[in-house]
Amino acid sequence: MSKKILITGGAGFIGSHVVRLFVNKYPEYQIINLDKLTYAGNLANLKDIEDKPNYRFIRADISDLDEMRRIIRENQVTGIIHLAAESHVDRSIRDPFIFARTNVMGTLALLQAAREYWESLSEGYEGKLFYHISTDEVYGALELTDPQGVESPFTTVASSELHHLAFGREFFLEETRYNPHSPYSASKASSDHFVRAYHDTYGMPTIVTNCSNNYGPYQFPEKLIPLFINNIRHGKPLPVYGKGENVRDWLYVEDHARAIDTIFHNGKVADTYNIGGFNEWKNIDLIKVIIKTVDRLLGRPEGSSESLITYVTDRPGHDMRYAIDSRKLQRELGWEPSLQFEEGIEKTVRWYLDNQDWMDNVTSGDYLKYYDSMYADR
Ligand code: NAD
Ligand code: TYD
Repeated sequence: MSKKILITGGAGFIGSHVVRLFVNKYPEYQIINLDKLTYAGNLANLKDIEDKPNYRFIRADISDLDEMRRIIRENQVTGIIHLAAESHVDRSIRDPFIFARTNVMGTLALLQAAREYWESLSEGYEGKLFYHISTDEVYGALELTDPQGVESPFTTVASSELHHLAFGREFFLEETRYNPHSPYSASKASSDHFVRAYHDTYGMPTIVTNCSNNYGPYQFPEKLIPLFINNIRHGKPLPVYGKGENVRDWLYVEDHARAIDTIFHNGKVADTYNIGGFNEWKNIDLIKVIIKTVDRLLGRPEGSSESLITYVTDRPGHDMRYAIDSRKLQRELGWEPSLQFEEGIEKTVRWYLDNQDWMDNVTSGDYLKYYDSMYADR
């Protein structure tokens, strides 16, 4: 039987890469992209595949249980890859309620609608999968120490300047206790628990994966890397929170999409996989790499835009360090990142500089007005 896969949040950053990969790689599957098109959803992210015969877009809100029931039943959905979420920590600090509504209640509505449909079929849950995409932020924060000599376990990625460094001895493992600090991570933690509860209580085949910070094309410019690339281009201040010492583990978004493909097809039901790059950077060091790259590509003296760095009040509850141990995924399913960080950053900066129209459209909000008129009846 051909797979009918519902991908939620497919008009967002990571979702658009997952949709593109599945539509191109699996012409025999039907891919349904379900997205509410909030400020973060943009169909321009999928222009290159929107006319493919195995692709369909539906505008809907995952918190609408009746809509989820109807869509899943009418499309005879066999698999769900769930990415739709409110995803920005700073917004969650300003308005936690929308994070609970979308990330918790929305995930619950989707789970319940899938459960009702799949349980109504004669074959039940056989051949079905609810795959929930989550974040390493549910584990809380790790301590920060001087760089440690930890070797990257990956063989495909030639070691880059900082690949062998870790800013502490501890890493997030699949067994690490949940300890979220921000309203965003608390809402994602809650949704992860609901997904596991649907497996344990109703026998629904589920998988949860927790990934580190993604970077690459089509990321909304409220997140560090696209925001800073755009500000450097326009000579605007670069707001560095606190001392810029927080550490994040960065993974190129297409490598995350490849991991999702591998896990969707070969992952063990009811299991959890951590996905990360063994690629830790202090914010300030990463920012300096971005500045150098943008300056060079714009023909400015390298590093001249460092004068734009502006230290601002720290984010409340700012997690110090995230670092994923993704060796289980490497060992069990053979996944490894394909890109060295320097290559990924170069590709990313080039993409944003070459796609200034996309950036202007997103920063002006024009695309939102367009969708609201196009879908006015919904
Ligand atoms: P994003 O904000 O770029 O995209 C989210 C998408 O979800 C948007 O298209 C938006 O329109 C849609 N959406 C929001 N509310 C909705 C609703 N109520 N109903 C239907 N659609 C809705 O986010 P992203 O960075 O692509 O993240 C995708 C997923 O991956 C999220 O679940 C996030 O928690 C997780 N994740 C992100 C990162 C990262 O670094 N960005 C890392 C690990 C995990
Ligand atoms: P962000 O891209 O928001 O991802 P997350 O908070 O989910 O890790 O931020 C990445 C890091 O950059 C984080 O430590 C916060 C910091 N940051 C700044 O210093 N200035 C900014 O303007 C932004 C958006 C983030």
